[in-house]
Amino acid sequence: MDNQVFETIRTRRSTRSYKKEVPDKVQLDMVLEAGRYAPSGGNSQSARFFCITNTIVLDDLAEIVLKSFAEMEETPGMYRSKVSSIRRAKTGNYRYDYHAPVLVVAVNDRDYGNSMADCSCALENMMIMANALDLGTCWINQLHWLTEDEALLKYLKTLGLKDNERVFASLAVGYPETESGLPVREPLPRTGNAIVNID
Ligand SMILES: Cc1cc2nc3c(=O)[nH]c(=O)nc-3n(C[C@H](O)[C@H](O)[C@H](O)COP(=O)(O)O)c2cc1C
Repeated sequence: MDNQVFETIRTRRSTRSYKKEVPDKVQLDMVLEAGRYAPSGGNSQSARFFCITNTIVLDDLAEIVLKSFAEMEETPGMYRSKVSSIRRAKTGNYRYDYHAPVLVVAVNDRDYGNSMADCSCALENMMIMANALDLGTCWINQLHWLTEDEALLKYLKTLGLKDNERVFASLAVGYPETESGLPVREPLPRTGNAIVNID
């Protein structure tokens, strides 16, 4: 097996600033195919991936997210990133997808217990593949947080979301807006994710 794989995994980082242009189609297809080849519970292969490059759709989704988060109130103990989304949305200047030229929205059966796990496996495959191709990615959680939001569901149904499907994850993809054009690849120190050896 190829020992480059570990280096590609180790150096994957989240990209939050993107060039405008949509990545090369061959590369983008490889990223999507890597997601499709992820394992799934019972080999269900029930996830679907909406690969959105249409700027009108990207803007519409950003508007729905902005509005919905601006209407939310913080509650004690709320997840930090959600609080930050609410605060930024209330300023009226909030773009949850970092203006990435591609957003992959992973949807799956609302009532299937492995929906999140299957979508996560797929997204991780996509992130690793993208890193191997010098593309940047970032997991985007806002659409999942809004998965029962009426406005979002109504809009996604116009794009082909089925009645039983909900959003479990989404992924921004694009060329990183860095001087070199390459993703930042310095791994963050591991402070958790402990290994517990039971010998
Ligand atoms: C389940 C999950 C949800 C995440 N949601 C977001 C998000 O909504 N927006 C964002 O900018 N990053 C999001 N991230 C990226 C994490 O913030 C990032 O992976 C973490 O800070 C480690 O940084 P690294 O990816 O550069 O190693 C998410 C990551 C995961 C796994």
